[in-house]
Amino acid sequence: MCGIVAVTGYKKALPLLINGLEKLEYRGYDSAGIAIINSEKNSISCNKAEGKLKNLKNNLKDENIPGTVGIGHTRWATHGKPEFKNAHPHIDGSGTIAVVQNGIIENFQDLKNKLEKEGIIFNSDTDTEVIPHLIKRELNTLSKLNLENNGSTLLVAVRNVISDLEGSYALAVLWADAPTSLVVARRQAPLIIGLGEGEFICASDTPAIANFTNIILPMEDEEIALLTPLGIEIYDINNERQYRNPVSLKVSEQIMDKMNFKHYMLKEIYDQPQTAKNWLENYLNQDLEKGKYQINYPFDTKFFESIERIEIIACGTSKHAAMVGSFLLEQFSGIPTNVFYASEFRYSPPPLLPNTLTIGVTQSGETADTIAAIDMEIKRRSSIEDKNFKPNLIAITNRKESSIGRMVSNIIDICAGIEVGVAATKTFFAQLLSFYGLAIKFAEIKGTQSIDEISNLITELIKLPPLIEDLLEQHNKSSEKLAHDFFNIKDVIFLGRGINYPIALEGALKLKEISYIHAAGYPAGEMKHGPIALLDKKVPVISIASPCEVFDKVISNAQEAKARDSYLIGIAPECNGTEIFDYLMKVPSSNEWISPLLNIIPLQLLSYHIAAHRGLDVDQPRNLAKSVTVE
Ligand code: AGP
Repeated sequence: MCGIVAVTGYKKALPLLINGLEKLEYRGYDSAGIAIINSEKNSISCNKAEGKLKNLKNNLKDENIPGTVGIGHTRWATHGKPEFKNAHPHIDGSGTIAVVQNGIIENFQDLKNKLEKEGIIFNSDTDTEVIPHLIKRELNTLSKLNLENNGSTLLVAVRNVISDLEGSYALAVLWADAPTSLVVARRQAPLIIGLGEGEFICASDTPAIANFTNIILPMEDEEIALLTPLGIEIYDINNERQYRNPVSLKVSEQIMDKMNFKHYMLKEIYDQPQTAKNWLENYLNQDLEKGKYQINYPFDTKFFESIERIEIIACGTSKHAAMVGSFLLEQFSGIPTNVFYASEFRYSPPPLLPNTLTIGVTQSGETADTIAAIDMEIKRRSSIEDKNFKPNLIAITNRKESSIGRMVSNIIDICAGIEVGVAATKTFFAQLLSFYGLAIKFAEIKGTQSIDEISNLITELIKLPPLIEDLLEQHNKSSEKLAHDFFNIKDVIFLGRGINYPIALEGALKLKEISYIHAAGYPAGEMKHGPIALLDKKVPVISIASPCEVFDKVISNAQEAKARDSYLIGIAPECNGTEIFDYLMKVPSSNEWISPLLNIIPLQLLSYHIAAHRGLDVDQPRNLAKSVTVE
């Protein structure tokens, strides 16, 4: 949600900033802007453009701004419409301070009112604009103490200002009077510093850094740093200087390559056989003596023994993965499990119960609601003396170096590699796999499934990579054809039951977010309680009909839709009953537990092709951003 990038060093800032912003555009694309300390004029040169980064690049194509220190921003609008005046960087009245910010300053209105009373004129509707004005005011105060105009003074000024800010932020600040310095700070929004050759580059996410260096220093929450070409000083909230060793980026954190695919989303759908292989390699170990497979999660699983219930906290697609996980944990492993929207949980958590495992699921590891909900759960459990109430936590994430990775020590890294498409596909698949691992682990420890049942499920997981490859092969062309017939529809209903109900929800979410077609998912048995009123020949119904105990009922529910003239698409193996579908997207016959991992593939492809056929920006759908780091 907004991407920021900042550089200082000996190389020209402009190409570095543009390159960084290109890698961060997935975080927001309402506007983009840069500010550079112009070394010839000793002043700030600022350029902004409404809309995508390509507009800014166009404006700058003949520019050659001299200067090696700069900041850049790609925006996802929160306060203030996606208009030019609200694009970052924001500059103070004297034109000497420039700020880019990702987050929400909750008390900006109070601060703005005070500044306006002092005669400050605002040029935007953003919350961010208070920051450069406040920093300038602070620098004016500090100048009375005869402090020098340098980076250290800017650091003091920024520190004093952020102590008055409420909410979350990651920000980068330039001051024309300290032309080689850059001050960056973060609270509940990510910021990473890369140590390049001849430059330091600070950004919201690793891809913006990876072109320059694979050596990074992640900043901790509430830290502030001064960067100059000579070095970095990091301070914590108590103004204590922090020293830590740099870490290396993994290769998977660096690769952002569309290869020959038209969109990242399609490439990421095609990555899924490899996602399955990665997960199997990372987390499935064979005991060579006994020939038995074991799930090998990288933490001490002893605490599993005491767990009596599970709560899972997530948003969006991650919540749908959590719902499949909840089904597995209850029905396969026998542990009562509840799934919560993070945004609801943080304000109305359930009463505390003992011996509870809390699982946070977030591919980005930065989703503000999920982070806040997990943080709240840690705090409220830690405040109770009874040890049965202590926090037991697992985080399932694709970014173990993210905020959630730093909050929770038991991490299941889904190892899906960078996902660029805003619509989550391979990370959903990898999150599902993580839950299969947990369910197997719990079933073993609690003895809720026989050894045979467990090894059957593991065998099915091992078979996945070629099955997914076949499904991709089989459905890419056919869903493209189907998309041709359906690209103009207005509403689609997705039905599923049991373990496939969340897959119906995920199918509907995928279609909505990239094609802007209204879609809703329902448990098939619920149709007759209301949604059936929506049906007529203009509303196709996509029914997930995996063989299971309630297969006949799913088929009857589909019949009910057909009787209302809906065009029926089935996601199912070809078998008795499936002849009622007007169109069958065939999936291989499988063990019911494993079916979500197969059923999701044609649904992802269908959504992709419908959106592509409509000529939409599949990878960067309107109004969305890849990681939602604001509440
Ligand atoms: C997925 O297609 C969506 N773009 C969105 O729902 C996403 O899953 C949600 O914002 C949660 O993100 P997270 O997994 O990074 O926490």
